[in-house]
Order: sequence, then structure tokens, then C-alpha cells
Amino acid sequence: MARNSRFFDDKHPWSETKDALLGNYLTPFFTKVYNASRDGIIYVDAFAGPGRFKDGTIGSPLLALEKYQAVCKSRRAKRPIQFVFGEAKRGLRRQLEANATDATNSVGYIKQPIIKDSFDEAMDCAVKVAVVGRKRPSTYFYYVDPFGFKYLRMAALLESPNPNHTEVLVNFNTVGFIRDACEALRIAIDVPSGIEILDVGFDDADLETERIQRLNAAIGSDEWKSIIEAVRDKSMNYWEAEYRISQLFCCNARRKYAYVTSMPIKDMSRMVALGGEIKYRLVHMTNNADGCILMNDEMLRRKQNQQDTLPGFLTLDVDGKDVQPEVVQQAMRDAVMQYPVGKQFQMRWVAAYVISRCGVFMNGTTLLRTYLKQLIEEGLIERVDKYRKDGKPRDNFAKETLVYRSPTYQTTIEFDGSSL
Ligand SMILES: C[S@@+](CC[C@H](N)C(=O)[O-])C[C@H]1O[C@@H](n2cnc3c(N)ncnc32)[C@H](O)[C@@H]1O
Repeated sequence: MARNSRFFDDKHPWSETKDALLGNYLTPFFTKVYNASRDGIIYVDAFAGPGRFKDGTIGSPLLALEKYQAVCKSRRAKRPIQFVFGEAKRGLRRQLEANATDATNSVGYIKQPIIKDSFDEAMDCAVKVAVVGRKRPSTYFYYVDPFGFKYLRMAALLESPNPNHTEVLVNFNTVGFIRDACEALRIAIDVPSGIEILDVGFDDADLETERIQRLNAAIGSDEWKSIIEAVRDKSMNYWEAEYRISQLFCCNARRKYAYVTSMPIKDMSRMVALGGEIKYRLVHMTNNADGCILMNDEMLRRKQNQQDTLPGFLTLDVDGKDVQPEVVQQAMRDAVMQYPVGKQFQMRWVAAYVISRCGVFMNGTTLLRTYLKQLIEEGLIERVDKYRKDGKPRDNFAKETLVYRSPTYQTTIEFDGSSL
């Protein structure tokens, strides 16, 4: 691990972006799940590190402990939580034990964190452990931040005992993945000059079959091979392949999670002409529409802080890709058409559907105001509560607003058609 031996000396600027995203997300996340988590919360940080960097800044496990305590502070009823940490290096595990004990010693509603030797053991423990008696915990959050992908397994992320109340945030190292995929397939590709890959790849002793199995296990299928072959054949460029690899990871996560979003984390001081060098991606998975919208909005805030300014007339997503309004409008229509005529649904469900399919490019409320509004004006859907107290028509786009597909919409279309 020579290349990572100084990782915990001080934070890279892009690590700060990652921490800011996690930290800023955890406050609304814990607040959102608090009341519904009577049977406790399991919080897993499966590649935890020591908890504190040498420069004194806190690492992800202590960040989560702090955020939870801050949310609990103002509430009389405390929700019990079990933190489960994984760390493979003995020395770092010891530091983590000491740091976590310091942080939780006098806090009665936070149990002593469980610290395991590996990602696999931490994930396995999370599936089995209870917080309140023997009841199934109400809520799970998995934070998965490996150096590379070698010990990451998609299957473990999809195995929560309570999938409807589980969220996952993963650091997926697409650039390291491509390097190791090329090595495993013995394919040479043109790598853009200047790319700096910090994680360690396979050991020389790892067999070719084992490498391929690990790549399959990390991303969740073997479809990555055709992407790498396309780069070899020069029918796809390197950065397009990086994007496709991230999309494949997201697509495989959708087997269990309805809403999956991703954003690249960049070193903005390098590859400036490209808008920064992609170091890895943060991928968020959830079955909860609010979670998806909150993460979408937080990713957009990080992008504004971290990244490039956008040309005014284009809508670009967090990948810098041009978002076509007609594609978004069609996704919004598809989202609405999932519901039978007359069945009520909240605006948040269609917003999350569109974000998960079209990417992170616009905050949730603006998305509804821009694209759902058209469907209301067209008569495809109606608000359940149409008028305000003063008799004026409602025009809000709050996420909880109930709407339904209008029973008269189809008739209007038929009438228009027959009158032509
Ligand atoms: C990127 S660092 C995590 C940093 C941490 N999230 C933070 O913000 O402070 C990855 C950590 O995973 C540990 N690690 C490596 N292999 C592991 C495995 N198989 N299981 C658990 N931890 C592992 C490394 O020793 C390292 O401390």
C-alpha cells in the first residue's frame, strides 16, 4: 500500500468534496429517518480508516458520529444507533477504536461501535445485528469508501435486510477499474497522458481468473469487458468508457434500488481544459424518493462549489453532459404514466424517477416546476387540492403535493383526433 501510506497525513482537496457531500447529506438524512427509526439505525462505514487524520481533521466514521449526535441533541426521545466500522489494517483499527470510544463514551444512546477487520465482515455483521431487542432495525446507511475496488462487492450492497429503508453511498474508482480491467484482459489502450491513479491495483500474484472475478463482483456483472474492448478497438474514447463504467455500476445497483445517482469527484487543479481530472465517483442508492432528491440537490451544491461554470444557454449535468429538455420531459411523462388514472401520488415520486434516469442537473423543486408544470397545463395530471383558502388556484410544487392522472385527459385526445 505504498502509494496510500500517506493518505491519512492530510486531506486531498477532492477528499474534502467527498466529506462535504457525506457530512451535508447526513444531517438531513438522520433528520428524515429519525421519527420512523424506533427500532434503531445501523450505520456502516465499511472502509473506515483511523477516524482522524494526522493534521487533526476528522475522517468519515467520526463525521457520522458527530452528525448523529447533533441531530439527537435537540430531541427528547433518542433513537438508538449501532455503528459498524470495517478497517483492514490493525494499526488503523486501533486508532479508530480509541477515536470512536472518545467520541461515544458519554453518549448513552450510542452503543459502543462494532469494529470489524474487513468490508465483508462489517457488511455481514450489519445484516445480523439488532439495535432494539431482536427487532429488525428500522434504517440502514452504508458508507463505502475503499482506495480501489478490489475488496468492493456489489452483491453486499444489495443485501440489506430492510431494502426500503436503506441508503448506500459508494466511492467507486472508475479510473482504477479501467486500469485493472485492461490488465486482467491483457489489453493495451491509449490512456490520456497525465492521469494519476492513487489506488493500488492487483498484486502481481493475483491470477487472471481471480482478477476477472473480482472485477465482476465489484461492478456486479461482466458487461465491463465490452466497454474495454471498445476502447481497444478505438470505437470509444477513454473518458466515454469511464462514464460507461460508472453507468454500468449504477445500472447494476438498480436491481435493488429504484433511485441511483452518481457524480464525478475531480481534482480541479489538473486537466483544467477537461473541467478537472476525475478521481472517482460517488454513487448514491436508495428506494426512498426524498433521499434521492436530497442527494441530487446536495450533489448540485458540491458541483457549484467544486467545479466549472456553465455556459448560460445549456443545461449540463454533473458530468458536464448536455441535458436535452425533450428527454427530461419524456421521462417525466413516463414517470406519471406509471400510475393508473385517478390514483393519487406525490410529486416527489416522479421527481426521483426523472433524476435517477436523466442524471443530476437541476434541483428537485425546479425540476418539478419546469417539467411537471407542463403536464398539469396540458391536463394530463391534476392537483388533488386545487384551490388555496382564498379561492385562488394552487401553483406550488412542493414534493409532498398530491396529484393524479386526470380521467378526462384521454377523452380530450380522442375528441381532438376525431374532430380533425
Ligand atoms: C480511502 S480510506 C477510507 C478513508 C475514510 N473513509 C475517511 O474518510 O477517513 C480506505 C480504508 O480502507 C482500508 N481497507 C483496505 N482494505 C480493506 C478491506 N478489505 N476492508 C476494510 N477496510 C479496508 C484501508 O486501510 C483504508 O484505511
